[in-house]
Amino acid sequence: MLQIDHIDVYYGKIQTLKGVSLTVNDGELVTLIGSNGAGKSTTLRTISGLLRPRHGSITYHGQRLDRLPPHDIVHLGVVHCPEGRRLFGHLTVNENLRLGAVTQTDRTAMERTRREVYDLFPILEERGKQPASTLSGGEQQMLAIGRALMAQPRLLMLDEPSLGLAPLLVESVFAIIRRIKAQGVTILLVEQNAWQALEVADRGYVMETGKIILADAAAALLSNPQVEQAYLGGTV
Ligand SMILES: Nc1ncnc2c1ncn2[C@@H]1O[C@H](COP(=O)(O)OP(=O)(O)O)[C@@H](O)[C@H]1O
Ligand SMILES: [Mg+2]
Repeated sequence: MLQIDHIDVYYGKIQTLKGVSLTVNDGELVTLIGSNGAGKSTTLRTISGLLRPRHGSITYHGQRLDRLPPHDIVHLGVVHCPEGRRLFGHLTVNENLRLGAVTQTDRTAMERTRREVYDLFPILEERGKQPASTLSGGEQQMLAIGRALMAQPRLLMLDEPSLGLAPLLVESVFAIIRRIKAQGVTILLVEQNAWQALEVADRGYVMETGKIILADAAAALLSNPQVEQAYLGGTV
């Protein structure tokens, strides 16, 4: 479905991604883990067209993505839920959801998708008329994911959805990710929470200073001593 082939990405003169290759197959949940500053968000930003690789290519169902503007990429079904939620705090929950429906032209279809989002996150329906800024951290994360779902992704990219949440909320975010996967959405999940990410994922990639250093089945990464030592606190 998605194939990244040896991309080099720079911020000005500084090379941030060094020959990164990664694939995501239809229906898979793939996780990209690695410590802070490794280049995980940069990878997602490059897939969604916010950054351009200097070398290498990104293809999605055989079509080059790395030459398309971000809105065309969203219209192909590749939707990015960014790190830090990026909500419009002064707008209501409903308005934020509507802004996510960028790929929908027909009101009935939009309402149907919103119904699906409400079924997944009943709290968003209850809080529909409240400004997004009045939601708790966990609810804001639900809204950010809900907004991404409004664009009807085929490939959903989630950047650190559990960041900053209390343990119980982290659990519910991962439960939601499982449900979204069960609905047939392919997911590329970026996480620092390596343990939980590998628990839900089919496959994983480990990134360090702009390079993929390991790629394997999630279960194999969970029992890999190198991963255990560096990312799972050595306590598994
Ligand atoms: N807008 C930017 N301008 C310059 N450097 C950046 C920018 N964003 C990130 N970086 C740098 O690129 C590297 C990778 O960052 P990032 O992709 O955000 O890592 P991660 O998401 O894995 O924590 C870091 O060294 C970071 O400081
Ligand atoms: Mg990041």
